[in-house]
Amino acid sequence: MKMDTKQIINQEKKYIVHTYARPDIVIDHGKGCYVFDKAGKKYIDLVGGIATCPLGHGNKQFAESINKQIAKITNPTNLYYTEEQVILAEKLAKLSGLDKCFFSNSGTESVEAAIKLTRKHAKKYEIIATKNSFHGRTFGSLAATGKEKIKQQFKPMLEGFRHIEYGNVKALEKAITNKTAAFIVEPIQGEAGIIMPSQDYLKQVREICNKHEILLIIDEVQTGYGRTGKFFAYQHSKIKPDIVTLAKGLANGIPIGVTITNNNVANSFKPGDHGSTFGGNPVSCKAANFTIEHIISKKLMQKASMMGDYLIKKISSLNISSIKEVRGKGLMIAIEFNKQVKNILKKCLDNGLIVNSTSEKVIRLLPPLTINKKIIDDSIKILEKALK
Ligand SMILES: Cc1ncc(COP(=O)(O)O)c(C=O)c1O
Repeated sequence: MKMDTKQIINQEKKYIVHTYARPDIVIDHGKGCYVFDKAGKKYIDLVGGIATCPLGHGNKQFAESINKQIAKITNPTNLYYTEEQVILAEKLAKLSGLDKCFFSNSGTESVEAAIKLTRKHAKKYEIIATKNSFHGRTFGSLAATGKEKIKQQFKPMLEGFRHIEYGNVKALEKAITNKTAAFIVEPIQGEAGIIMPSQDYLKQVREICNKHEILLIIDEVQTGYGRTGKFFAYQHSKIKPDIVTLAKGLANGIPIGVTITNNNVANSFKPGDHGSTFGGNPVSCKAANFTIEHIISKKLMQKASMMGDYLIKKISSLNISSIKEVRGKGLMIAIEFNKQVKNILKKCLDNGLIVNSTSEKVIRLLPPLTINKKIIDDSIKILEKALK
């Protein structure tokens, strides 16, 4: 049965649990930085599947590559060795400067694995996290998350998490006790509205973690795979974490999660300690291998830096008094307003531009890394129109 827009929206109301407040559009297909709705209307997509599509939508070569893998085999499971998994693990180990990977299917699972690994390795269970952080919606990562509003109704939380001010190294030093096992932190807080710490924050954090012999877990779920101009955002600070979590855009929209760590920590996990039926399946790994090769060969990290600077410059040059601040790194950008943005989102959408908000006054942009100046210029025209 073919359905039109109205029928699909009605069916959603009837059959889907309402955890999302969706605008009234039904996305049908995509091409590069554009998506098209069921009625054929074209939109510039500056949300990029919430940062999950670094190569853009509808990439034919990508589709061919994973289609071949689907025809070969989809999921022999982790009971056996598979080639794409070890190819991907070697790539990620070399890119991160770490040693070993645990594969799962999402960001929240990559954080769950990091928490379990930390508890087993350190033989302690206290983890320090930051206020307003976001690490996922399952119970371990939700406990690590620093947004009280999304936790309130699901208490009691997993024990052992304490939250300190983001960007404050003195608060970290003060919070560490002999029960502390690790500090978990995002290099840039994404869901909080692209909050950037000072340049030397992670370097100082690394020194404090070394001094107190606690693990440093860096959550790169949103900042990773080249979006900020380096493959991992912590690489701007020239440090090495003990554990890294990665997901979102790593496989260009195909579900994947990875927890990467050093040999010392990795060796704490023994067969049976953790697992995932779908984690590391050859389809997701093939998709991630293709995505990484493309990000490197097409110089998408360098492009993310250049296009990010261009986008920030263009927005900053708009003469709009309601814009309070434009901030970001690479293609992870926030526009903060001194008024609510709900109507702006709606006007952008009506005029063919998809943007999203992290809070009442912040619009966040996470476009595909393949975006170019022409698409940015077109977006700015629509944004300007919506704001005026
Ligand atoms: C930093 C960070 N960690 C973890 C997550 C959770 O990822 P997922 O939605 O894939 O579970 C997110 C999602 O936005 C995130 O931004």
